[in-house]
Amino acid sequence: MKLLRITLLAAAALACPIALAQTATKLKVGLMLPATGTFAALGTAIENGFKLYVTEQGGKLGGRAIEYVRVDDESDPAKATDNVNKLIKRDNVDVLVGTVHSGVAMAMARVAKDSGTLLIVPNAGADAITGPMCAPNIFRVSFSNWQSSYAMGEVVSKQGRKKAITITWKYAAGEEMTAAFKEGFEKSGGQIVKQLTVPFPNVEFQALLTDLAASKPDAVFAFFAGAGAVKFVKDYAASGLAQSIPLYGPGFLTDGTLEAQGDDAKGIYTTLHYADSLNTPRDNAFRLAYAKAFKLQPDVYAVQGYDAAQLLATGLKAVNGDLAEKDALYAAMRAAKIDSPRGAFTLSKAGNPVQDIYLRQVVGKENKVSGVAVKALADPARGCRL
Ligand code: PHB
Repeated sequence: MKLLRITLLAAAALACPIALAQTATKLKVGLMLPATGTFAALGTAIENGFKLYVTEQGGKLGGRAIEYVRVDDESDPAKATDNVNKLIKRDNVDVLVGTVHSGVAMAMARVAKDSGTLLIVPNAGADAITGPMCAPNIFRVSFSNWQSSYAMGEVVSKQGRKKAITITWKYAAGEEMTAAFKEGFEKSGGQIVKQLTVPFPNVEFQALLTDLAASKPDAVFAFFAGAGAVKFVKDYAASGLAQSIPLYGPGFLTDGTLEAQGDDAKGIYTTLHYADSLNTPRDNAFRLAYAKAFKLQPDVYAVQGYDAAQLLATGLKAVNGDLAEKDALYAAMRAAKIDSPRGAFTLSKAGNPVQDIYLRQVVGKENKVSGVAVKALADPARGCRL
């Protein structure tokens, strides 16, 4: 009996040696995220979320145990190509997961496209990744920069504020989010009177706040995130401007930051694909599990990390853990319906989430939902040929 089993196993191994060899080994996940700098907390939340889902599945996805290889990308585009090449060539990762910063993620997408490595983007919104750079092996579970900010244009206009100033870091994410806000705002009868920037990741805002005070717009739209968002919202309140000119932004301005921003964030309206008070069974279970595991409240970044693992799991399940079956793997991932804590979402042809965008307002330590700004918003995927 035993002999027969061994013979059968040997025969199976001969018949499909690659599949057996692949699925028996661990799946190497390359986590390229910021562990230092202004986005460090965002990187931690993404990694926590990813690992929480894998742990919930007993440490395996599609029958493969998971091994992590980590690189601190420092949110530095100048080091990005070297960092991603290290993961692919030195560490032989099977899949890349990263990152937060749009400029770094664009370098990752370029290398992923050239090398054919599977890439799942758990945050960075660079429009190009699911636009001109789109590819069958590139997926995003977060948002496009356009998607995060377009809806806010109409919201601000409807609140009766017709002259706005934008302020952000001068790099892809800030430029694309403010451009999307401008597009939505002007379509709704608003006018952008000035666009202010500081180099990334500077947090010296004084000169810009003086400019804002002198210009007296009806509204300010700002993109900053992580430690930079904490500093901006606090400086804005300290300058006294919060009393006279309401501050708006994509939800990154107040997500994962409210403990540190305290009362200075009170009342701020933002748009985002997640909120703290969804109160659905799916989100409640996720929030409880996350808080238990990490002694921290989850935020949008944690959700995105969790969903990156969910998307990978969907693909691996379809091919029984065999990443070499690329066509079937990518087809299953493109067709996935992700049961996200944010609400279920699907992917567009370009590989970007089609999702509801919530209008939120800061109440206490929460980004409370005050409605859905746009249902099932899809990025226009300008320039994607797939
Ligand atoms: C980005 O660079 O794409 C980015 C960074 C931080 C965020 C959102 C977008 O919170």
